[in-house]
Amino acid sequence: MHAPFNRRQILAQGAALMGTAASGLLVPQHVLAQSGKIRVGFMLPYTGTFAQLGVAIENGVRMAINEQGGKLGGREIEWFKVDDESEPAKAIENANKLVQRDKVDVLIGTVHSGVQMGIHRVARESGVLNLIPNAGVHIATRAQCAPNVFRTSFTNSQPTMALGEAMVKRGHKKAVWISWKYAAGDEAYEGFKESYTKAGGTIVKELGLPFPNVEFQALLTEIAALKPDAVACFFAGGGAAKFMKDYAAAGLKDKIPLYGSGFLTEGVIEAAGPAAEGVLSTLHYGDGIETKRNNEFRLNYAKTFKMQPDVYAVQGYDTGLLLIQGANAVKGDLSNKAALYKAMEGATIDSPRGKWTMSKAHNPVQDIYLRQVVGKENKVIGVAAKALSDSGAGCRL
Ligand code: PHB
Repeated sequence: MHAPFNRRQILAQGAALMGTAASGLLVPQHVLAQSGKIRVGFMLPYTGTFAQLGVAIENGVRMAINEQGGKLGGREIEWFKVDDESEPAKAIENANKLVQRDKVDVLIGTVHSGVQMGIHRVARESGVLNLIPNAGVHIATRAQCAPNVFRTSFTNSQPTMALGEAMVKRGHKKAVWISWKYAAGDEAYEGFKESYTKAGGTIVKELGLPFPNVEFQALLTEIAALKPDAVACFFAGGGAAKFMKDYAAAGLKDKIPLYGSGFLTEGVIEAAGPAAEGVLSTLHYGDGIETKRNNEFRLNYAKTFKMQPDVYAVQGYDTGLLLIQGANAVKGDLSNKAALYKAMEGATIDSPRGKWTMSKAHNPVQDIYLRQVVGKENKVIGVAAKALSDSGAGCRL
């Protein structure tokens, strides 16, 4: 049996330890950084209209990392989580919970463009590595692009850049646009406006309501009165399901074809029921992409999480893949920033959506698919744009 330490021994040991510290024989910071766990923080919506998007993203990240042994560059991971509630007013405070309090090495977040702006400020000021797994706010990879910020999803105008032409090709020359009035809706409209008018279409009216309101009735009455050839929109999550249901219930579904930035039908086909059938949209993913990579991903995701994956799960998965590539390149030493960023900038992501690369401004260069809801699936019926890159306007890195 070992005798317990007496007080004198404890004091002596303490003095010896302090002596080591005082004599400067401390382990260098970067060795410490490599030996401990990598701290990964999720800042995502886990409540509200985007709650299911946050869950799908987290699932995707964890799946990618678990498939490759559950470590990053050989180091174990400690996870942290903050629910951002899709609430821009709390964004800076929430980001600082992860950065200042939890001292994360990587902040993965978020979904909502307004909240992203808060994270962006904290990321630029602190230098923390920020991976954006959804929010498409333009400025984050345009004028305010940053060496430590990488997006694995899209810019808000990327999916709609391919929408306008697809609609005109189908003979719809007069359209109404409707969306939530905040950065994501406004910027999705920018892409739509450019592509639709360039293809010869006319936008009869731009309609909107504040995020996350779902009182669509008055606006649907206005659409009925305007009698456009088609309607195009940006909605997502719970609000998207409600919009499609209300659109059908107002008797518009069979009269005026509904198109969308493809988020409209992601993760909500079951919730929307027959109201989603036939809806056309453009997006950088589609359930029915017939590749071995996508089929395996879908099978594994469904087995692991007992639900079907969607674009958000794919974006989360790709975030995991990007982080793995970066961490492996620096053997887990994320403090080696120059090498870490270089590896991530040069990465090709072998995604379920198809292979994509990082633009100079740190945003995916990717194909945009034309999809149609058939039964329970976003069926791919064409490629609406090949290797589409956001302009990255104003970005200097
Ligand atoms: C955004 O706010 O940037 C956003 C949110 C949900 C989406 C897409 C974009 O599905």
